[in-house]
Amino acid sequence: MREEEKISKRIRELLPEGKWKIFQAMSYTPLAGGKLLRSKIMLSVAEDVGIAQDKVLDAAVALELLHSGTLIHDDMPEIDNATTRRGKKALHRVFGEGMALLAGDGLFFLSFKIMSNYPELFPAFSKSAYDVLIGEAIDVELEDMEDFSENDIYDMYEKKTGALFGFAFSAPAILKGAVYATKLEQIGRKFGVAFQIMDDVKDVIGDSETMGKDTGMDEKKKTLVKLIGVEKALDRAEEIYSETIAELERIGAKRTSSFLNEVKELVRKG
Ligand code: IPE
Ligand code: IPE
Ligand code: MG
Ligand code: MG
Ligand code: MG
Repeated sequence: MREEEKISKRIRELLPEGKWKIFQAMSYTPLAGGKLLRSKIMLSVAEDVGIAQDKVLDAAVALELLHSGTLIHDDMPEIDNATTRRGKKALHRVFGEGMALLAGDGLFFLSFKIMSNYPELFPAFSKSAYDVLIGEAIDVELEDMEDFSENDIYDMYEKKTGALFGFAFSAPAILKGAVYATKLEQIGRKFGVAFQIMDDVKDVIGDSETMGKDTGMDEKKKTLVKLIGVEKALDRAEEIYSETIAELERIGAKRTSSFLNEVKELVRKG
């Protein structure tokens, strides 16, 4: 079975079912068809560090479920007020805002329930989930702030987006007890920064149809694109991507470094 199918199948198995709306709401975004980047990266690193992919599969799924929960909350009126996500109506526009809050929370708690089977990974998972929340809050606070620095933006990116990639890259190495787990976490966070810069660029120049989500959403936001312009931001993202790929090669994570070369193209398109 291809990795993507393996992950999707396990997502379907681990999502709850039942007659109540909350169960449909919790399944709505995870089953809407994301790129599954974080989980695919985790399975790829597992190959690189010599851990069976099946051993990390549930952790990879938990990460995707947590990620979906953050997107549901991110889209809500008081945060980004988005209309579309993964080519479908944003969840709160279908199920209402109360249910969107609960569905996001439900996915968070479900992800932690799954992760309770991975005691070695629990501290890293909790830390990355916490950092996403802080990053999202900084993102909101920066909207009305005049006095901020480029570093504040990098800090926000590293948390809201880098943290989950940090976990994706390092989890298999943590399970293996490998010394380079910390290095992989840093690489993942760095990759996440490049990924967010690209996402912000596409908010300006991307095609919402291809991306399956709204563009032009970042008008009120503080982004690197606004500070240094599209061209320079693209250069910066390229530079960071190349650095992370080179660093992965240096520690011998060959499969993941070549996967990231493919991802670069995927990310460009949306
Ligand atoms: C979207 O992440 C949120 C950002 C960090 C920019 P993805 O682009 O990975 O979204 P999906 O999972 O493919 O929908
Ligand atoms: C990343 O930022 C969202 C999260 C980390 C939850 P964005 O707000 O730019 O993500 P999109 O563009 O809505 O996917
Ligand atoms: Mg946002
Ligand atoms: Mg958003
Ligand atoms: Mg965005």
